[in-house]
Amino acid sequence: MPKKGRLAIHGGSRAVPDNLKLMKWPDIREEDKIAVTSVLERGIIHGAHSPEITGLERDWSEYVGCKYALAFNSGTAAIHGGLFALGLEPGDEVITTAYSFSGTYQPILYQGAFPVFIDIDPSTFNLNTNQIESKITEQTRAIIPVHIHGLPADMDEIMSIADKHNLMVLEDACQAHGARYKEKHVGTIGQVGAFSLNATKNLSGGEGGLLVTDNEKIYHKAKSMRQYGEIVTDAPEYIRSYACDTVGYNYRTHEMPAAFVRSQLKRLDEYTEIAQRNAAYLNQELGKIKGLLPPNIPPDRTHVYNKYRLRFDPDKLNLELPPDNFRDKLLLSLRAEGVQASLWHTEIMPAFPIFQTKDLSKSNLRYRKKDYPEAVYMLETSLIVNTELHHICIQNLETQEVYVEAFRKIFDNLDELINFPEIHF
Ligand SMILES: Cc1ncc(COP(=O)(O)O)c(C=O)c1O
Repeated sequence: MPKKGRLAIHGGSRAVPDNLKLMKWPDIREEDKIAVTSVLERGIIHGAHSPEITGLERDWSEYVGCKYALAFNSGTAAIHGGLFALGLEPGDEVITTAYSFSGTYQPILYQGAFPVFIDIDPSTFNLNTNQIESKITEQTRAIIPVHIHGLPADMDEIMSIADKHNLMVLEDACQAHGARYKEKHVGTIGQVGAFSLNATKNLSGGEGGLLVTDNEKIYHKAKSMRQYGEIVTDAPEYIRSYACDTVGYNYRTHEMPAAFVRSQLKRLDEYTEIAQRNAAYLNQELGKIKGLLPPNIPPDRTHVYNKYRLRFDPDKLNLELPPDNFRDKLLLSLRAEGVQASLWHTEIMPAFPIFQTKDLSKSNLRYRKKDYPEAVYMLETSLIVNTELHHICIQNLETQEVYVEAFRKIFDNLDELINFPEIHF
């Protein structure tokens, strides 16, 4: 007979009832379908001046409060557009965080420049601003703060270092739609901001990206590179000449995702509120469980919880096994209880193979995992609650309540968890 509270990984019953209804992300409603099919009825599906794309650019610039927005076909392309427009050149260095997604550093490489990674602040998971100045060299041109998981980075400190050293700032706000730092929308504080619209984001178009700026020159340069480097104007009578005056790409997006995003944008504030309500509940209740460390939100900014990353404290739990081993057992156990949990990255970016094999002969840079102890430890001692498919933005409070019950059950039976055989994902 299973003993009361026996963990599901040991054959006990699941903490999350089988009939709990989970919603899938993105939340596709009737009005979204109408928005997309209207594009087909209109018959205009392509072109940088088409109505949904220009409408999305207008809607987003109004929403975040900036002069210009440009729609791209991905967040990575929007970051690339921003770096291109800032004039990043081969051999330049760009300071960014060791913990983000490949879409942050790949565009630096596209320009022939080098990312210079710095460690994270373990209390926010964002780049540690105290380390920026020690990494600035003659080659440094820009800083890319990433508002990771939807929590704004320390923008005052970053902007003041950038001003002091004459550096440009591109905000990677790909995970942070609607998040605010001292009342300002993220993405509008540096010279350029970039957002992703891929299917996992709080504002989703399936794929897509948005660049924002107040700078007219940056806007025109990014707009030109988005379309092969052609000379593109905003004039309504614009006739495409096809002449290019720079290297360029085809980073245009499509009318259907643009229409879908515009429809979703009408509900972004609603989704943000739900995510913040759910997260506040998790923060309060999981914070009562010994050894769990919910996210910390400094009072001068808002978190929009694209991901809810939960840490544990190996010392408080008196763990004798390696933390990442405990993490993997915890993940397996949560899943067995019916909790949608995931890892999202188990390695920091400087440790990726690309940086181990990169030709660094033209630079003094070295990419060594040991230089980023906080980011490494953070990944070893945390996991993500709710998943990209079962997003926190949309689940009901009851789901969070049963998730908390599952955590309580596991942490009341820690020996059972620790004694579970070692797992290798
Ligand atoms: C922090 C961060 N930067 C950049 C990107 C790139 O965005 P996309 O996938 O739209 O190219 C993402 C997307 O996952 C991201 O999370």
